[in-house]
Amino acid sequence: MRLMRSTSSAAPAAFPPRLQAIGTTDAPYRPLLGVAELPDGTMRRVTVGELDVLLVNTERGIFATDDRCPHMSAPLSIGELDGCIVGCPLHEGRFDLVSGDTAQMPTTGGLEADGAYHPVWSPPDKEPKPDAPGVKAEARRLTRVRRIRYYPVRIRDGIIEVAIPRE
Ligand code: FES
Repeated sequence: MRLMRSTSSAAPAAFPPRLQAIGTTDAPYRPLLGVAELPDGTMRRVTVGELDVLLVNTERGIFATDDRCPHMSAPLSIGELDGCIVGCPLHEGRFDLVSGDTAQMPTTGGLEADGAYHPVWSPPDKEPKPDAPGVKAEARRLTRVRRIRYYPVRIRDGIIEVAIPRE
């Protein structure tokens, strides 16, 4: 893999320390991407072994998290980025990269990270849809949208390095 170096002033973004990904405290930093390959306001998937990492360059700095939606694991890298909010391509969930919280619940409804229940989305001018019967609807109701987990980032010689747990 050839990484394009850059002299950009890009820096790692701060994230809530309690949301640091498990196993990353003593993990080795690995070079993933040249800063020049991640322009401002863009995001990219980089795969390391079985781990798909999402790199996002925002006005708050560069974040690294899983390229898996905190709802049902869809790839966020093909979603939309609006400032520090990343939108999932599957159920319209939106997630705040600064706080790690859900900014907009998925249309399927379900549980927030703290367990609060949301029904299936319905237009504001319509009656809420009644809970559907069946195990698939129950699975959607019981799916908890977790908070984002972060991988520590550092920049060395124009290369984005990310602390990845050993396999
Ligand atoms: S998988 Fe992302 S909102 Fe459902």
